[in-house]
Amino acid sequence: MKTLIVVIHPNFGTSLVNKSWVEALQNQSDRYDIHQLHQVYADGKIDVVAEQQMMEKYDKIVFQFPFYWFNCPPFFKQWLDEVLTYGWAYGKKSGYKLEGKKIALAISAGIDEQEYGVTGKYKYSMEQLTSPFEITFDYVKANYQKPFVFYGIEKESSKEWIAQSVSQYLSFLEQL
Ligand SMILES: Cc1cc2nc3c(=O)[nH]c(=O)nc-3n(C[C@H](O)[C@H](O)[C@H](O)COP(=O)(O)O)c2cc1C
Repeated sequence: MKTLIVVIHPNFGTSLVNKSWVEALQNQSDRYDIHQLHQVYADGKIDVVAEQQMMEKYDKIVFQFPFYWFNCPPFFKQWLDEVLTYGWAYGKKSGYKLEGKKIALAISAGIDEQEYGVTGKYKYSMEQLTSPFEITFDYVKANYQKPFVFYGIEKESSKEWIAQSVSQYLSFLEQL
């Protein structure tokens, strides 16, 4: 069973990290299917039924995006609001269609890891900042996993650093 990687990047053309992750995953198309939301829905209109049908086919789903303003890019929030419908994802008569599926976030962050967390400049840890996703996926009974985060791309964006992010991401996915 392949893992579905849902990519949400509003400026994929200028991406360094997420683009290199996608390229690495494309080389392993026997293991990963990539679904680029901004490419599929360039007009911003999500086909909810098509998305739900796609999600039902996978046991492992990863949402990959760059961290923007301590959050996800807005198209992912739109996706959550529209695709996780009452009756499909949750609710009394729901099939809880994401129930038991392993779901994780894969995030690239500009800021260093030390600057996140209680003792850091930005006060909150990535675990705290991503808690709305954790609660959302708990709510729909999915099996939410700890996120993969690659930090510090603003300070260090060498080829070597990006290559490190690729291998760390691939081993995260293999262990998912
Ligand atoms: C609008 C915007 C907001 C950003 N906000 C954050 C932020 O809150 N925290 C952070 O660590 N990096 C932030 N960054 C840096 C991005 O996370 C970083 O450039 C991105 O992860 C690099 O991935 P890419 O090469 O695939 O674009 C921001 C970048 C942009 C353009």
